[in-house]
Amino acid sequence: MREMAKAADLLEWYDRHARDLPWRVRPAARANGVVADPYRVWLSEIMLQQTTVAAVKSYFQTFTARWPTVQDLAAARDEDVMAAWAGLGYYARARNLLKCARVVADEHGGLFPADHATLLTLPGVGAYTAAAVSAIAFDLPEVVVDGNVERVMARLFDEHTPLPAAKPILTQHAASLTPDTRPGDYAQAVMDLGATICTPKRPACGLCPWRRNCAAWAAGTAPELPKKSPK
Ligand code: ADE
Repeated sequence: MREMAKAADLLEWYDRHARDLPWRVRPAARANGVVADPYRVWLSEIMLQQTTVAAVKSYFQTFTARWPTVQDLAAARDEDVMAAWAGLGYYARARNLLKCARVVADEHGGLFPADHATLLTLPGVGAYTAAAVSAIAFDLPEVVVDGNVERVMARLFDEHTPLPAAKPILTQHAASLTPDTRPGDYAQAVMDLGATICTPKRPACGLCPWRRNCAAWAAGTAPELPKKSPK
């Protein structure tokens, strides 16, 4: 019988292979007590919706250099923010970004709330972003499910139900693995695993820390999962 995958094995892999991304706190800084800035986590997660990590990096640097805090962004002129956003696309995101910054500045004293339910009340913040901010910025054990996580779970559990019907099943699997220790790192570790090893095409199973726990690896079905319903 295959052993259940353990969050600890993935965290050990993450400590060695985490991508160095500008919104992440590096291990050395963390050892010095630096914790994630919720503003930077929120900004990165909004930018990463529908846009690749590679494309987001420079925009993230530009925004945080020009508007280092949520109060700075809240006080920005609309046209300056829209101009800085140009090229990222999906301009409703930029309008909601400003609305959200102003709500946080005016109604929350400039502090992002930590809990999922309050985060959900903010403009442009849906279930995924609320869970990601709660986990990554506040280290709360929220279940964070994006496309990467869905793919990893579909393979780990060899789930052949097609998306979108599989979504609640994959979310339950993700919940069963989410740890109480370092849930923020864990959420990012699953995303990195999906982006670098458990890739849609030609996954690098030989390098995967969860290979021996993976039902699709055993069945040889990893490259064909997750299944998708025809549109
Ligand atoms: N995609 C969305 N959020 C991410 C994060 N925090 N790290 C890596 N990839 C991501």
